[in-house]
Amino acid sequence: MIKKPWAGRFKKGTHKVAEKFSASIDFDQRLYKEDIEGSIAHATMLANEGIILKKEADKIIKGLKQIENEIKAGKFPFSVEFEDIHLNIEKRLIEKIGDVGGKIHTARSRNDQIALDMRLYLRKEIVEITTLIEIISGRLVELSEKNIDAMIPLYTHVQRGQPILLSHQLMALYEMLKRDRARYIDCLKRVNVMPLGAGAGAGTTFPINRKLVAKLLDFPGVTDNSIDTVSDRDFIIEFISTSATLMMHLSRISEEFVLWSTKEFDFVDLGDEFTTGSSIMPQKRNPDMAELIRGKTGRVYGNQVTILTIMKGLPFSYNRDMQEDKEPMFDTVDTVKACLEVLSEMLNSIKFKHDNMKKALNEGFITATDVADYLSRKGLPFRQSHEVTGNIVSYAEEKGLELMDLDISEFRKFSKLFEEDLYNFITLDGSIESRKSHGGTAKKNVVKMIKLAKKEIASW
Ligand code: ARG
Repeated sequence: MIKKPWAGRFKKGTHKVAEKFSASIDFDQRLYKEDIEGSIAHATMLANEGIILKKEADKIIKGLKQIENEIKAGKFPFSVEFEDIHLNIEKRLIEKIGDVGGKIHTARSRNDQIALDMRLYLRKEIVEITTLIEIISGRLVELSEKNIDAMIPLYTHVQRGQPILLSHQLMALYEMLKRDRARYIDCLKRVNVMPLGAGAGAGTTFPINRKLVAKLLDFPGVTDNSIDTVSDRDFIIEFISTSATLMMHLSRISEEFVLWSTKEFDFVDLGDEFTTGSSIMPQKRNPDMAELIRGKTGRVYGNQVTILTIMKGLPFSYNRDMQEDKEPMFDTVDTVKACLEVLSEMLNSIKFKHDNMKKALNEGFITATDVADYLSRKGLPFRQSHEVTGNIVSYAEEKGLELMDLDISEFRKFSKLFEEDLYNFITLDGSIESRKSHGGTAKKNVVKMIKLAKKEIASW
């Protein structure tokens, strides 16, 4: 029987079933780099404070670096008997450099060690995720600029509502992602705090120097309460919740593209590289990538529920339940990055079908709001303008005509307030150009927002 590092007070070994059940090495080996990085900083600090000898630290550090290479090369003998990444590495270190390897765990517990590993891991991933969001944000702004004049219906209730610029809608997506980015950056502040030194949860009797460890690992500060430090998983919860919101946005963007790529809408061509065929229907081109982004959103929501549920009933401080935090965290990282990568490439190959969008604008009385607004600008209370316009729409519908096709004399049958200048407002251009209020779809506004966005992106 292999002797476990904590086996001192045990007379019998762990049951095989229990061992397999409780081991996390299959998934937490993903943290090997962070584990080693943290241990190197810890050993450096222990030597610096005279807690271990400098030459002991040197040996430990050299051994850890060799272990890192072994793992990288796929030559490390991971073993379930040693539960997790921490014990696997520690055991190997002792194997390699002898008993002095055991000194690495001076003034440390796995409870603060795992918190450190996950914070190191997550802060790196958050930076990568924000970079991907930034790339997509830039693409959206580019696309807006490229399609600046294209018009499309604004839909509410999936019914054609008012004419807008496609660029305005693309910039709406930019706004969503900008908020996501800000949320990740804010979350990073709370991830990026150094936990080591909390020990098992009460602190340590050794004269450690936590600030030095923070400096070595490039953390701006250290955690302030040892109990909270080993109990806290808010930083993961926040990360997943931020990711859930991002995924909800990616899902809506995908849903829009799915709809727009149907023959019914036919507003976009997603490109051969990002669509797939049907094994039975030769004519089909399916928007699978967009659908999968939409589908994978569910995983991240699931991860959110998982982690909240793991934490909700836990007494202070560390409990083994918390080992279950890793898989939802890893899965969220993998899912979010994969979706962002595919979306970002998809945006490179997407083509907007301007003519079809325009065609959709020429049916459905899309400028009816503009007719009502016209009347109200001439003094009619909006409720009445709405009613009069409703009657005109119904009249045009019966005649099979669009509003723009009606003669001014026909408009005047419904209200004497109508004059020739009406046509300046109820054409598509006129309607769009008159929505000049801040944040509206008038081209001048959109151009301004694109300029602003470019400045924002340049400052990121
Ligand atoms: N594998 C453990 C986890 O992921 C590390 C901390 C274990 N601490 C302990 N005292 N068993 O949470």
